[in-house]
Amino acid sequence: MLEFEIRHKDLMGRIGKLRTPHGSIETPTIMPVINPNLMSIGAKDMKMYGAEMLITNAYIIYRKADLREAAVKNGIHSLLRCEMPIMTDSGSYQLYEYKDVEVGNSEILNFQQSIGSDVCVPLDIPTPPYAKIERARDDLEVTMRRMQEARRIVRNNPLAGVVQGSTFVDLRAESAKRVAALGFDVYAIGGVVPLLASYTFDKLVDIIVASKRNLPQNAPVHLFGAGHPMIFPLAVALGCDLFDSAAYALYAKGKRYITSDGTRKVEDLQYLPCACPVCSSYSVKELKEDVDLLAAHNLWVTFEEMRIVKQSIVERNLWELCERRCRAYPALLNGLKQMAKYSALIERYDPGTKHPFFYLGESSAYRPEVLRYSNRLDRFTLSGNVLITTNLKETDITEEEQFDHVFFVKPPFGPYPAELSESYPVGQAEIPAEVDNEARTVALQNVLKLLELNKNRNVKFVFRYDRCWEDYPLVEEIKRYAEVGRED
Ligand code: GUN
Ligand code: ZN
Repeated sequence: MLEFEIRHKDLMGRIGKLRTPHGSIETPTIMPVINPNLMSIGAKDMKMYGAEMLITNAYIIYRKADLREAAVKNGIHSLLRCEMPIMTDSGSYQLYEYKDVEVGNSEILNFQQSIGSDVCVPLDIPTPPYAKIERARDDLEVTMRRMQEARRIVRNNPLAGVVQGSTFVDLRAESAKRVAALGFDVYAIGGVVPLLASYTFDKLVDIIVASKRNLPQNAPVHLFGAGHPMIFPLAVALGCDLFDSAAYALYAKGKRYITSDGTRKVEDLQYLPCACPVCSSYSVKELKEDVDLLAAHNLWVTFEEMRIVKQSIVERNLWELCERRCRAYPALLNGLKQMAKYSALIERYDPGTKHPFFYLGESSAYRPEVLRYSNRLDRFTLSGNVLITTNLKETDITEEEQFDHVFFVKPPFGPYPAELSESYPVGQAEIPAEVDNEARTVALQNVLKLLELNKNRNVKFVFRYDRCWEDYPLVEEIKRYAEVGRED
């Protein structure tokens, strides 16, 4: 087992230290893909951008006699002229793309061992999204046999176990359980490149969650082929630790300029909206004409975004970063909304206290903290006369003395006792003056829940609300348990 120590957590995301045979790295991180045939940005330069680990393709090296001989003789680190940890992929992706891989599982694994890989990868079968279930099952059985074989063959090098199963969440769950039972150093989620390419982020969220919840929590998880920074906040929030991609180079080749929330055609740019060393030293014209400069910019922004994600884990505001980033693009918003559906699961991983809660739009209503608050409403033991009011200005409550308990209603949390006005999360939550329907609805659901939890106790509830709560049908339901009145 590779040692993996988790140092900070937020949502299901974490900052970890992974000890490899070539030194420790900090996760989450992105491993740039090094193509040993075209090292325009050489492996040794990658450190400058912030890379701590690289990934290369063992199959590409294996099928070229000169590269293969050099790698076997002097090792992969010598071939790439770099002492950073290097993960080697097996050629599975070539198998998927070109269907012509002429190498067996044991052959490519033995090769990876012989060249000193820091993480070997078996020859899994990436089943495309929306394949027929029969095909996905058959592919998965082959993948699983290869994982078992890999576990027997690879003795001295760290080894990744790959999760497949196409877009079938049950198959993903089964696949994750079975690789977890075999025991690997790294777990990798594969077969998602077409979903990334088509911006199908909601499905991607389902797949990551189905896999993650069935993998060991204390092991690093790699998301194969995710190299565009726009997906980092979401994928890290769901517990992915390692990323790889040739995106920086592929996009540059296609004359595309990566930003943290999307991609621009470089020909459409009149300004360079970035302060990386490339964008601050070269003109737009120079970038348009030089693929290497564009690739360098793409790398800078990729690592910048990963640092932003890491800082937000430390600050425990990764949800807010996801909300900000996912507002840039409707397909990303689909991903965010899908993540919100897993709030109950995320809540189980999420640390208990954080910096103040910022309400940033309707997805905030479904944040794990809100759900946790709702789950804890049964902790209030009430008796006598209880006022629940949407009027947050305490001083206005003239008849406060008549009540044994006073609760204020703050969207999206709902009712909280006046004594918790300064406390995390509800008291400290920062919400806009005009909140949306989701926040109010969740707040009223929690009012109703508090009333229902106490209906068999000797409590008399009074609910006061102001004009902006008027049209909510839940107010009618509240009337079943409380004396209701409008105040304004
Ligand atoms: N690279 C991108 N996707 C995959 C995958 O599913 N498996 C492997 N081994 N490599 C990949
Ligand atoms: Zn730049």
